[in-house]
Amino acid sequence: MANVTIRDATDKDIPIILGLLYDLGRPKPHQDSDVDSFRKLVKNYIQDSDKKLLVAILDDVKIVGMISMMLLSRLNRDALEMYIPELIVLGKHQGQGIGKKLITSCIAFATEKKCHRIRLDSGNSRKESHEFYKHIGFEQSSLSFTKNLS
Ligand SMILES: CC(C)(COP(=O)(O)OP(=O)(O)OC[C@H]1O[C@@H](n2cnc3c(N)ncnc32)[C@H](O)[C@@H]1OP(=O)(O)O)[C@@H](O)C(=O)NCCC(=O)NCCS
Repeated sequence: MANVTIRDATDKDIPIILGLLYDLGRPKPHQDSDVDSFRKLVKNYIQDSDKKLLVAILDDVKIVGMISMMLLSRLNRDALEMYIPELIVLGKHQGQGIGKKLITSCIAFATEKKCHRIRLDSGNSRKESHEFYKHIGFEQSSLSFTKNLS
């Protein structure tokens, strides 16, 4: 089992977090101003009390994964819902229990916040991650619909 610890992300981690997001297939910057605005978005995310960003550190030095979380309120529930927009483990470190460790930390945070459930979307093509989520106890409970406006 890899020597991995989970901690809150800090501003210093922002460039590596952006690198992980590009690995996930998220948009890459087209120009320098995009880099600045992406950095600002991550910084705001870290500072937002309704959001949380955790990183997985290998051997106390290298960031090898991250998970982002948002606390959402619903109209018909007092308890919050935890939504996970991003979960990524670097390719060569996958299959070593790191994704599960990040989810375990997420569950601990959701429990602390008395959330009634955790929800996430996973693209149709991500068959492997669907199996991962099922394996660690998530159920496929809905279909997700999107309408692109750009
Ligand atoms: C999906 C992902 C986060 C999983 O993280 P990981 O570190 O590779 O997974 P882990 O090693 O923690 O696996 C935990 C458990 O799930 C199981 N598992 C992992 N992938 C699996 C798969 N494709 N099918 C079945 N079981 C799987 C492992 O065998 C392990 O089981 P165990 O606890 O009984 O030993 C990671 O592979 C990843 O970042 N993939 C690319 C990005 C991505 O798809 N992110 C999700 C976007 S929605």
